[in-house]
Amino acid sequence: MIGQGCWQIGADWGEVSDDSARSVLEAALDAGVTFFDTADVYGDGRSEQLVGAMRARRASAGAAVSELPFIATKASRRADPFAPETFTEENLRGWVERSRTNLAMDTLDLVQLHCPPPAIYRDDRVFDVLDALAAEQKIAAWGVSVETVEEALISLEREHLASIQIILNPFRLKPLDQVLPLAAERGVAIIARVPLASGLLTGKFSPQTRFAENDHRSFNRHGEAFDQGETFSGVDYETGLAAVARLEAALEGEMSLPEASLRWILAQPGVTAAIPGASREEQARANAAAGSEPTAEQAAIIGRFDTAVHETYDELLRESIHPRW
Ligand SMILES: NC(=O)c1ccc[n+]([C@@H]2O[C@H](COP(=O)([O-])OP(=O)(O)OC[C@H]3O[C@@H](n4cnc5c(N)ncnc54)[C@H](OP(=O)(O)O)[C@@H]3O)[C@@H](O)[C@H]2O)c1
Repeated sequence: MIGQGCWQIGADWGEVSDDSARSVLEAALDAGVTFFDTADVYGDGRSEQLVGAMRARRASAGAAVSELPFIATKASRRADPFAPETFTEENLRGWVERSRTNLAMDTLDLVQLHCPPPAIYRDDRVFDVLDALAAEQKIAAWGVSVETVEEALISLEREHLASIQIILNPFRLKPLDQVLPLAAERGVAIIARVPLASGLLTGKFSPQTRFAENDHRSFNRHGEAFDQGETFSGVDYETGLAAVARLEAALEGEMSLPEASLRWILAQPGVTAAIPGASREEQARANAAAGSEPTAEQAAIIGRFDTAVHETYDELLRESIHPRW
């Protein structure tokens, strides 16, 4: 399925007003999106509050609980995200309480650890707290959002793990090797984030494109503020443009690059959802449309695109991406 990433409506992507954030969310809902991914740190709670208000509007318009969108949030980056000692029971419980308030939900649908320090993946204490929160019905399920394949594989050893969120797109193929097959075997959901490589995989950028100062595509290209992989999937911008040109040429105008990228992700066995972010209503609508069941013709295009994706990855990207993430 296509979900909707909600980082854009929090912060770090240039200015998005409350009105336009609301319109983007409503456009996604009206287009049939039922899965929204947010985090307590996106705009320090702003994204969660906007998503919670959207859900509350649907509820007060008469939607049954089963008809309300599924909301995934994330916790653990409010204190120093690089310090394992901040992962105390008190902090974890406090972060979840704040998300319950922001989202106006008694039971959170899904709480994901938000790219915690590597040591946390082996810390039973942290996962015991998540299990306790589930037993208390403060959260329905928990998962992890990871930076690396190695972190995903360690997480897959946890019995109650519901989901793994990982960067997976035509520039990030490593999860296909082991993570997807193992997750499918264990019944763990895979949430593919950064599916458009921060917009690079829309084909709309050029060497001349300039981003706002408060947009991470200006200030985090080399990992200055958070993991480099979260900006353009960690691909060097010029190399990314060259890869985009090859992928677009392979499509021969038969399908747009963002649609092909999203359909390609959804076609990978084991993927549960791709969660493109959107800063405009029309983006939300276009992305939602890419979640429709592919026709035979669309499936054939994606089959040909797959060959180009693997060739481009092997020739331009594998060397810098595969060993790192
Ligand atoms: N650590 C984590 O757990 C983590 C990290 C990163 C992201 N995420 C989650 O993953 C979600 C998605 O990742 P992302 O937002 O970083 O990257 P993304 O989805 O790859 O790229 C989003 C950007 O692509 C452009 N775009 C989207 N749809 C488009 C369309 N149909 N046509 C043209 N342009 C389009 C927009 O750029 P413009 O704004 O320039 O128009 C948008 O801001 C986030 O919202 C968040 O929920 C989680």
